[in-house]
Amino acid sequence: MAKEKFYITTPIYYPSDKLHIGHSYCTVATDTMARYKRMRGFDVKFLTGTDEHGQKIERIAKEKGISPKEYVDKIVEWVKELWKTLDISYDYYIRTTDEKHVKAVQKIFKKLYENGDIYKSSYEGWYCTPCETFFTERQLVDGKCPDCGRDVEKLKEESYFFKLSKYQDRIIKHIEEHPDFIQPPTRKNEMINNFLKPGLEDLCVSRTSFKWGIPVDFDPGHVVYVWVDALSNYISALGYGSDDTSDFEKYWPADVHVVGKEIVRFHTIIWPAMLMALDLPLPEKIFGHGWLIIDGGKMSKSKGNVVDPKVLVDKYGTDAVRYFLLREIAFGQDGNFTNEALINRINSDLANDLGNLLSRTVGMIDKYFGGVLPKEQKGNDFDKEVIKTAENTVLKVEECMEKMLFSDAYSEIWVLVRRCNKYIDETAPWIIAKDESRKAELAGIMYTLSEALRITAILITPGMPNTPDEIYKQLCIEDEELKKWESAKEFGKLPEEVKIQKGNVVFPRIDIKKELEELETAMKKAQDESAAKKENNGKKENQDEIITIDDFSKVKLKVGEVIKCEKVEKADKLLKSQIKIGSEVRQIVSGIAKFYSPEEMVGKKVVVVTNLKPVKLRGILSEGMILAASDENGNLKTITVDGDIESGSEVR
Ligand code: MSP
Repeated sequence: MAKEKFYITTPIYYPSDKLHIGHSYCTVATDTMARYKRMRGFDVKFLTGTDEHGQKIERIAKEKGISPKEYVDKIVEWVKELWKTLDISYDYYIRTTDEKHVKAVQKIFKKLYENGDIYKSSYEGWYCTPCETFFTERQLVDGKCPDCGRDVEKLKEESYFFKLSKYQDRIIKHIEEHPDFIQPPTRKNEMINNFLKPGLEDLCVSRTSFKWGIPVDFDPGHVVYVWVDALSNYISALGYGSDDTSDFEKYWPADVHVVGKEIVRFHTIIWPAMLMALDLPLPEKIFGHGWLIIDGGKMSKSKGNVVDPKVLVDKYGTDAVRYFLLREIAFGQDGNFTNEALINRINSDLANDLGNLLSRTVGMIDKYFGGVLPKEQKGNDFDKEVIKTAENTVLKVEECMEKMLFSDAYSEIWVLVRRCNKYIDETAPWIIAKDESRKAELAGIMYTLSEALRITAILITPGMPNTPDEIYKQLCIEDEELKKWESAKEFGKLPEEVKIQKGNVVFPRIDIKKELEELETAMKKAQDESAAKKENNGKKENQDEIITIDDFSKVKLKVGEVIKCEKVEKADKLLKSQIKIGSEVRQIVSGIAKFYSPEEMVGKKVVVVTNLKPVKLRGILSEGMILAASDENGNLKTITVDGDIESGSEVR
């Protein structure tokens, strides 16, 4: 019988920068689902890739003096390496610069145009020339560019538009008739109430102000803009629009598109509308996961709080990092990333619970039986409960995995692991071992533990693809049948004469204090290296320049007292402070709102650079700079004075 298909995708990532642990989170989860489905006998197609066009990439490449393609090629190489490091088992990697994709998008665009779903009009907006970006009236701050604070001009650009509004009612109907279409369900209400019900506007789908995009073949000068290009990847990768559409026929519609919460909107509104216009079936499900948060904010390069997954994998191994991502955060919700939480998880769940269970079991079989269990075995009063837990665990894990509730699935597996450790304490094999006449009972205990470990190894495989092999190796399990998912449903499949081969400790315990220090240094080193590389790519070397005392004295530093402070509207990072410096009061805008409330700032005596050229931030005048220290995780603390001293005092 032909296998049932399962088509799962991640978003295609922007290669405008290196990917961080936040991107890895989505990919690890998707990979886990793909591996689980493969183990359950599905014919899985797992797609990931990169979204390589757009003005931003064009601009970065230009700054570096290379072509956009050269720029993205390098990053894609790096991304593929990262996925290898994290054991991501994708079946196909799509690049939007692939010829196959370009052709498909051109066909899609033309078809939509010919069917009357795309029409030509003009896009009017406020254009900031230095930022090369259009803004709507609402996005401007005091009539100026919200990014750089400079003047903007009203420009009109000829553009093609997609008739998104035409599909509004059909999309609402589809969402309402398919309760599983948007997951988790809270995201469904958000889409309907916040976006669909208020009404959809037609979507601008082409641009003439930049070149790095897929050309509209029937109207040179226009390139396809963002979402039509990006979303089409899910079908172009299957050969839609090419000569060979066999994969498309086999795998479409997708069973699930896994996406971050901020792009659920595009996947549940624009993408269905495009598919309806193309007369194609809609995906079964869009799963919108939450964000990995650092210090209360989304991890992002611009905030300087990114965590490099390669550094973590180098230190702890792929499975530990993957386990943490899956277990620590409920898929669908936001979750905090801290190094401390990661190490605590490794120590408690992996070293103490699972690692110990394996090493204790193998150690006891070695010590009491010379490495091989005898066939004569006898059960005990606690067996029943362990067996029942194991059998229940398999069912519960299946239930959770089908709903993509990875954290719950792993939490269920650990119920079994912990039950087994408790079983060792309950049965106290070290006491039984003293009595030669209880050998069969002792062997029975060892068997129960080995069998529970085999089942555990099977269940953890989707999220932790490497650890099971170490467990199988130490329990000398070679028969592939005993590693299959279905075999976990039956306790007792492992032949009685279990043999062991002592091996490495699977997850050594970590000295948390020492480790946190080392980790900070490693992260910093990686960040410095990447910053240095970045500098080397384009401009001069990133070296710490030595300055003279005269150079230093050019910077005027004074103590200032914050007498008033408020948030800057529509800028969640900025605070506007009135600072008394001696007899004068200055206004300073600083990017500290994530770390201090206005109330906390008032009364603080901070160190201020007083001879900086005034600038406008978000259109607000800033006459100086408050000094602050920040670490590589993006934590920030202002520099204050140690004791009472008059405002206006010089800092030297
Ligand atoms: N290129 C678009 C997607 C097009 S799909 C047709 C894009 N790219 S992205 O690189 O900005 O983001 C890709 C995915 O990474 C998104 O789903 C986003 O939510 C996810 N993440 C980026 N940072 C993240 C965290 N800090 N935490 C979790 N996921 C995050 O959007």
